[in-house]
Amino acid sequence: MIESTFSIVKPDAVAAKQTGAIIQMILDAGLSVKAMKMIRLTRAQAEGFYAVHSARPFFNDLVTYMISGPVVVSCLEGENAIAKYRDLMGATDPAKAAPGTIRKNFGKSIEANACHGSDAAETAKVEIAYFFSSLEIVG
Ligand code: CMP
Repeated sequence: MIESTFSIVKPDAVAAKQTGAIIQMILDAGLSVKAMKMIRLTRAQAEGFYAVHSARPFFNDLVTYMISGPVVVSCLEGENAIAKYRDLMGATDPAKAAPGTIRKNFGKSIEANACHGSDAAETAKVEIAYFFSSLEIVG
């Protein structure tokens, strides 16, 4: 099934000049980029994006980290894109991520873990719409 998913290259990876290498891994995995931009999130935007985690002890640190520098957000498409991208990212904690995954290659910690990807179809829809209008997504 062809699906869309949402990706963030996080501030640590952008600052470390790893954006290009991460996008290349995404393309090599057979996913295509339907929209992409670099933005610097405001605190309110980051809090809104991660609202589902607002009760978690790491929420404030996560938001502060996510606004610490620019991020590259994208809409990805492909066969089973949601699971495919999650497999490519690897475990949330880079120390537990499998060899060859983005987080194993580029993640620095469970917080500065290089990338984010949607966890389900409904989440992907909400996350894509949070950052992109339909006019910005290549048909
Ligand atoms: P992400 O996929 O962006 O979703 C929520 C983020 O919270 C997660 O990646 C991690 O970077 C971050 N995070 C920080 N601490 C934790 C933790 N203890 N457990 C899960 N996620 C965490």
